[in-house]
Amino acid sequence: MNRTVTPPVLVTGATGRIGRIVIHRLLDAGVPVRALTHRSEAAATLPAKVEVFTGDLTVPESLDPALKGAGAVFLVWTAPPRTAAAVIDRLAANVRRVVFLSSPHRTPHPFFQQPNPMAALHADIERLIAATGLESSIIRPGMLASNSLAWWAPAIRLGEVVRWPYGAAETAPVDDRDVAAVAARTLHQDGYTGGDYVLTGPESLTQAAQVDAIGAALGRRIAFEEMTPDEFRSRSEDTALRPVVDMLLAAWAAAVGPPAHVTTAVADILGTAPRTFRQWAADHATAFTAQGS
Ligand SMILES: NC(=O)c1ccc[n+]([C@@H]2O[C@H](COP(=O)([O-])OP(=O)(O)OC[C@H]3O[C@@H](n4cnc5c(N)ncnc54)[C@H](OP(=O)(O)O)[C@@H]3O)[C@@H](O)[C@H]2O)c1
Repeated sequence: MNRTVTPPVLVTGATGRIGRIVIHRLLDAGVPVRALTHRSEAAATLPAKVEVFTGDLTVPESLDPALKGAGAVFLVWTAPPRTAAAVIDRLAANVRRVVFLSSPHRTPHPFFQQPNPMAALHADIERLIAATGLESSIIRPGMLASNSLAWWAPAIRLGEVVRWPYGAAETAPVDDRDVAAVAARTLHQDGYTGGDYVLTGPESLTQAAQVDAIGAALGRRIAFEEMTPDEFRSRSEDTALRPVVDMLLAAWAAAVGPPAHVTTAVADILGTAPRTFRQWAADHATAFTAQGS
């Protein structure tokens, strides 16, 4: 009897928020998985069934062992742009399909149309992929629900007021698990070539309402206080790059007033409704407690 062997999918950003979940969804679907880790010590945190390769997107030839014999690649680019063309050439020479984790920089909503250094990088990588003729899908999460862990968990764990700029700015946070499930589906099932998917949560919520939802998950009210953009800039000096801080402030300023852009892409692809932010908060409540830190 002839048996078709499914070639493995190589997941880059395998230790990151989305890549880590993509690995689980692919394994659930019975797809063999390779993981690219940048820091070799991170391999210990990946499932035992995964074949781990160490490689660096800034050293294109370091990817060769992981690419040889792979069928598809989940591409997460968090490195400087310099080596993107050489890496994508290597993908084209080795695999049939690529799914790229991008952002909604083409969506004509004010939130997505502010100056954004990542948007130019994402657009360049998309152009490079299109020029190869690889089977490709682009997935574009709006705002990941898990951003709130980095932003608000430190104050919430200490029982402090959440002080934040633009509490009235509306976004539609998308659950990282829904983004990863879409990525896995487009990697291992046919029918998504050429797909370009803006992924959002199901509802537009102000940032203050998102903090309320975390409070509801914890069973207590979390006080929210408006912070000025200048204070946010000075408080972020040691923890974030200035262009990233400016990008966030401009995007939030533009998102005060209009409801957030909401799409049906998650439901269209997965056949199930996207998880709400309340659901995300309920499932991650312990991460906002002192024990979860
Ligand atoms: N946050 C949002 O709301 C949002 C929205 C839309 C799009 N995005 C996009 O999502 C992407 C980030 O995804 P994520 O949050 O899942 O990632 P993440 O949690 O920030 O993790 C970054 C990953 O990149 C790997 N990495 C870093 N430098 C590398 C290098 N030189 N070579 C190979 N791998 C390297 C890291 O590996 P090691 O752990 O081994 O170092 C890690 O697995 C970005 O492109 C961002 O623009 C984010």
